[in-house]
Amino acid sequence: MGMHDFDDSTDELAWSIFRYALNRVKMEPPLDGPRTPEELFEAVGQTITEDGLGGEAALEAFTEHLAPACMSVDHPRFLAFVPGAPTDASMLFDLVVGASGLCATSWLDAAGAVYAENQALRWVADLVGLPDGAGGCFASGGTMGNLSALIAARDHARRTRADAGLEPPTRWAVVASEGAHSSIDSAARVLDVDLLLSGTDDDRRLRGDGVRAAIGSRPDGTEVFAVVATSGTTNLGVVDALDEVADAAAEHGCWFHVDGAYGAAALVAPSVRDQFVGIDRCDSVIVDPHKWLFAPFDCCALLYRNPEIARIAHTQHAGYLDPINESGDWNPTDYGHFLSRRARGLPFWFSLAVHGTRAYAEAVERTLEVTRAGEAMIAEAPHLELVMPAGLSVLAFRRVGWTQDDYDAWSRELMDDGTALVLPTVVDGTPALRFCIVNPRTTEDDLALIVARLA
Ligand SMILES: Cc1ncc(COP(=O)(O)O)c(C=O)c1O
Repeated sequence: MGMHDFDDSTDELAWSIFRYALNRVKMEPPLDGPRTPEELFEAVGQTITEDGLGGEAALEAFTEHLAPACMSVDHPRFLAFVPGAPTDASMLFDLVVGASGLCATSWLDAAGAVYAENQALRWVADLVGLPDGAGGCFASGGTMGNLSALIAARDHARRTRADAGLEPPTRWAVVASEGAHSSIDSAARVLDVDLLLSGTDDDRRLRGDGVRAAIGSRPDGTEVFAVVATSGTTNLGVVDALDEVADAAAEHGCWFHVDGAYGAAALVAPSVRDQFVGIDRCDSVIVDPHKWLFAPFDCCALLYRNPEIARIAHTQHAGYLDPINESGDWNPTDYGHFLSRRARGLPFWFSLAVHGTRAYAEAVERTLEVTRAGEAMIAEAPHLELVMPAGLSVLAFRRVGWTQDDYDAWSRELMDDGTALVLPTVVDGTPALRFCIVNPRTTEDDLALIVARLA
């Protein structure tokens, strides 16, 4: 087949790819599991060769050998980390994005795609309660979203200080809770700022007083430029006391960022929405549709109350970029730490456009219903102990009498026999098991099957 000339053999390969992709979308996803590099080499050998393998052979190497070595995060019993459960519409539309030669850096490149993405972002902004004028972009994931927001926050703090005629501080710092995601620590290291960790209350929530104490503990010469609250911690699903944190951040003139990468999707669910009071006061927020809003990887909605601040921080300057920078158009590249970008919000947009927003509320509520049923199962089992009541859709619990080795062996056995992926975590320095339920196809029976294996 020609590299760029679509001929009969390309046509045949296209149908093979479409058949595989369609079948993959329709099937009950297999759990699958990792193989060693040696096993994979044994199976597919050297795939990059001078003459090329040809389409069918390359496709077969993937479908027969490499794909089964990739776990399906949308398997109903894949409950580790934060899984995903993309809708059929979003996965199918991802094929269109890939087929479209689309670079969604700027309005000039991709006005239609950016328009659609912005409607999806506006829906998220409305869930959060951000005013007209808020906006942002789709970044690759929560890590890049948090980093991009904190870059904007620090840039703003620097400029504000300079405008006031003040010297820069010796160090900049950001406050977050002990439950904050590791990407906050990572962002602090990239920015070369200090991370001041605040303690939490008995419910493991970051509170206003904790923020004040953390700010108060800063060394002389250090200035806190941002406070990060988490609306749904990764390990336990805890939503910080957002209203109080917003107050404390405002008192100190700090940027208020909310990491809702996992949990802020639950804003769409009436049964838990009241946990998020105060989220509308944020200066920036992230929500990952690839987690609990049923979009394929990689897709993080990054929003700013005042996008102009982010534009000043992120716009890249070069002669060849002047035409887009001077256009006055809405360019996604201006709002995050990247230039070229895939139109990664489009599969999410398409699915929202197809199904409407009510279907999203129902699907998230269904995951919460299953979580509550799982919580009851664990509470009733005498050999299991809940770590804490589920706030959102994370269940953490312990098997009485088990050590780390027991958890590891149990978890490995369930993965190897294709039952489930449930990995141990650590809570308060002690191992525990953790379910993260974001897949509406996960049922009460799925959880019962796993819990039965702990007897
Ligand atoms: C609260 C929170 N923030 C940030 C992240 C990082 O997101 P990503 O893996 O998309 O970079 C995660 C991932 O689980 C998360 O749960």
